[in-house]
Amino acid sequence: MKIFSTIKETNEYLAARRSEGKTIGFVPTMGALHEGHLELMRRARKENDILVVSIFVNPIQFNNPDDLKKYPRTLEEDIKKLEQVQCDVLFAPDAEEMYPEKVTKQYDFGELDKVMEGKFRPGHFNGVAIVVKKLFDIVQPHRAYFGEKDFQQLAIIKKLVEMENIPVEIVPCPIVREPDGLAMSSRNRLLTPEQRKEAPFIYRTLQEAKLRRQHICANPLRQMIINRFEGNEHFKLEYFDIVDDKTLQPIHAWNNKVGTVACVAVWLGKVRLIDNIRII
Ligand code: PAJ
Repeated sequence: MKIFSTIKETNEYLAARRSEGKTIGFVPTMGALHEGHLELMRRARKENDILVVSIFVNPIQFNNPDDLKKYPRTLEEDIKKLEQVQCDVLFAPDAEEMYPEKVTKQYDFGELDKVMEGKFRPGHFNGVAIVVKKLFDIVQPHRAYFGEKDFQQLAIIKKLVEMENIPVEIVPCPIVREPDGLAMSSRNRLLTPEQRKEAPFIYRTLQEAKLRRQHICANPLRQMIINRFEGNEHFKLEYFDIVDDKTLQPIHAWNNKVGTVACVAVWLGKVRLIDNIRII
């Protein structure tokens, strides 16, 4: 596996592979790799000649300085995992390399980033879009793989690709979960053993929403699930919503609406977790 920390080396190495006619599959990450990330990589490995992974804890997408400071950094372990999935190129730059100058670009994603994560983490998706656009320019992948765990991020990336006319295929990948249902996340390692025991409540409650939607209208179901989260003393609910999977706007009636997702963000102590489930 090649490990590059500069844009120039990465760009040159991949330009040579591209001119040999090789296809490039790309998985951008912030490291602290887990099975969720590795599944994206296995898929990209299968569908392309060259697998490129980036690890960069992108400072401009953190709206909370404490979250950035606490974010797990485990580069040595990550490199071992990347070797196991036969990654060809790891691009692991530092912030100086990515942002030699102050970033000022402002994207307009319309209503897409005014709800849920976008509402509670101001500036977050602008920071995600800036880094992903830059990474796409450096790697120029044929396909890029993103997890449905970050459902709104996926919608933003699709929009970004459309707005900027980037010639890449975005491949959505299903959420990978622990055996007890907890969605895998780099932040899970920040949970205390006690909090870790409580965490599967999130997915259990989303499953309940999915089950009950056959019998209850969208508005009362939303309220019922909000009450469930608010009634559990271990959690602090940030939002729960039932939304259209394309516009991400709240759904108020089913109307046989195909493409409906329930999304949640909760705090478990000082750790913020998100999850979602397709309910129709
Ligand atoms: P990160 O949180 O490291 O996630 C990298 C990719 O792995 C994202 O596409 C995310 O949706 C996916 N992923 C994480 N947990 C997953 C799970 N349990 N199942 C399936 N996929 C999962 O998302 C980011 O990094 C950053 O915002 C990034 C796109 C790299 C830009 O900085």
